[in-house]
Amino acid sequence: GPKACVIGWPVRQSRSPMIHRYWLRLYGVAGAYELAEVPPEEFESFVGNLADRGFVGGNVTVPHKEAAFRALGASEPSASALEAANTLWLQNGVLCGANTDGFGFLANLDAAAAGWEGRRRLAVVLGAGGAARAVAAALAERDFARVTVVNRTASRAFEVARLAGRAGEAYGPDDLPELLAEADLLVNATSLGMTGKPPLEIELAPLSRTAVVTDLVYAPLETDLLAAARARGNVVVDGLGMLLHQAAPGFERWFGVRPEVTDELRRIVV
Ligand code: ATR
Repeated sequence: GPKACVIGWPVRQSRSPMIHRYWLRLYGVAGAYELAEVPPEEFESFVGNLADRGFVGGNVTVPHKEAAFRALGASEPSASALEAANTLWLQNGVLCGANTDGFGFLANLDAAAAGWEGRRRLAVVLGAGGAARAVAAALAERDFARVTVVNRTASRAFEVARLAGRAGEAYGPDDLPELLAEADLLVNATSLGMTGKPPLEIELAPLSRTAVVTDLVYAPLETDLLAAARARGNVVVDGLGMLLHQAAPGFERWFGVRPEVTDELRRIVV
């Protein structure tokens, strides 16, 4: 059967094998999903010879997403916009790629908080790394009037805000209280609050209780941010769903089945 892999350095921490192997079993697909630990200096040659290695495609994780984009022979708009790819496949021998992080982010909110985009005046995105880039672009796509990127390092905030086009605006941490007072959606796209990282220290008092709050961090599943937001009555969405939903388009390409994100899968991966 067809074989795919996740390419990373290191790669042992990746949850992708768990997700794809669950779906392979669930749908009775005679395929395989492997781990490929590939150092940066070998990445280009590895993806240049995917077919010879027996792979129909794969996922790309840290630190290879930008190198993956540069290696593409054909790129979907999702990858071109972010200059990073996380999903690869071969079509007539050409290496094709997409970035499904934005799709996963939106699909998770659609599934976990139906009606979340009822108000789209202002979104606050905390952070300016790869995840924040995908989120900012995705929110502009869903027509948020203002996509405000708040980051400790201002230059990175501007760079990410640019991806939201005319809706994009960059701010520093001092501006956060004023932004929260008008926000319809708050997204933590920093690594703060993750197990082993410093806490995300933010005062939610100015935030409306009708705002939706989501965290991309999924370990712990309920971050301090989500617990605090839930306690004051906000609708909250955890980050695990984004991880699961971003995997679906790749599985469909490689194995021909559109997979479902089930509660059982959530329990397995968490
Ligand atoms: P990824 O690509 O995985 O999304 P990243 O590039 O490591 O993550 O970015 C992490 C984000 O968390 C950045 O926005 C970073 O802020 P800077 O751009 O100023 O570095 C933010 N971050 C990490 N540690 C932080 C801290 N102690 N205080 C404030 N922001 C922090």
